[in-house]
Amino acid sequence: MAKHKEIVMSGIRPTGFLHLGNYFGAIRNYIKMQEDFECYFMVADWHSLTTHPDTKELRGNVERVLAENIACGLDPDKAAFFCQSHVHETAELYLYLNMLAYKGELEKTVTFKDKVRQHPENVNAGLLTYPVLQAADIILHRAQYVPVGKDQEQHLEMARNFANRFNHRYGEVFPEPVAYNYNAELVKVPSLDGKGKMSKSENQMATLYLADEDDMIRKKVAKAKTDGGPTEMNSIKPDYIENIFALMKLVCTEDVIAKYEADYNNCTIRYGDLKKQLGEDMVKFIAPVREKINTILPDKNYLKQVMEQGAEKANKSAGETMKLVREAMGLKYF
Ligand code: TRP
Repeated sequence: MAKHKEIVMSGIRPTGFLHLGNYFGAIRNYIKMQEDFECYFMVADWHSLTTHPDTKELRGNVERVLAENIACGLDPDKAAFFCQSHVHETAELYLYLNMLAYKGELEKTVTFKDKVRQHPENVNAGLLTYPVLQAADIILHRAQYVPVGKDQEQHLEMARNFANRFNHRYGEVFPEPVAYNYNAELVKVPSLDGKGKMSKSENQMATLYLADEDDMIRKKVAKAKTDGGPTEMNSIKPDYIENIFALMKLVCTEDVIAKYEADYNNCTIRYGDLKKQLGEDMVKFIAPVREKINTILPDKNYLKQVMEQGAEKANKSAGETMKLVREAMGLKYF
């Protein structure tokens, strides 16, 4: 990786089964960025311990995240694609940053408050310092750009604060990391039931997963919410119909979209046909990705090699930063 490139870092929680929203919202950004930047993409397995202390499913989930992202086009030869737990210096930096993070600001974090509400029985210190670990992930590579969605903006702001506090106290080591997305690419992928976005936790029948079989895709699309169709020419589309057109824009050709737009406007639209077409185009889009996932997943040797290669790149970058950190802090006694 050429040294002059700007540095990008992002983390992916290994919660398994990526969906169309992840693809168009995040993965597509990573794939573009790996061409233009020095990229560090990390599977956040330590972070998942804050809410899922049981590690039985962790290995499988980590392997799935690797396979799914690679199937989508993330290239381990271009980016460093690695596991958080393979970069031990993350823990060292996390420890130093913990001394610069205040209990009050951590308690005010929106994601922390949400998790306290959801799991009052497991409010552990790791959960409280989740943003500190995330900051360590990012600044360990002295990254400038972090491709993340809106929900991570507060964490990123905290990372900037911790980096600045370190720089002021011990000397300039870290750049300020900022959110980065190719503007137009931050597409919202609506769910099929007309309620909100596709998501891992909400209605699974309204979300298209990259691992879904063809018939499942067809079935989900066929169930998408529609109505009897417009009765007045050129009427405004209700939200759930707008959503279906938004989904078509992701996978259908312009001709197909234009035809159904016209049919809608002159009240001849047949939603059954539209959904059949959309279902087939979704299958065409998802099937090759799913097939790639299914060839990568059982190939444990390949996955091991990906992780080793990623760990090597990440550890090299981490080692360089931590040398500067220890020197700046005066933690070098001989
Ligand atoms: N907290 C992020 C999420 O929930 C995952 C994450 C961990 C991350 N470390 C990161 C994101 C570093 C960006 C940079 O999605």
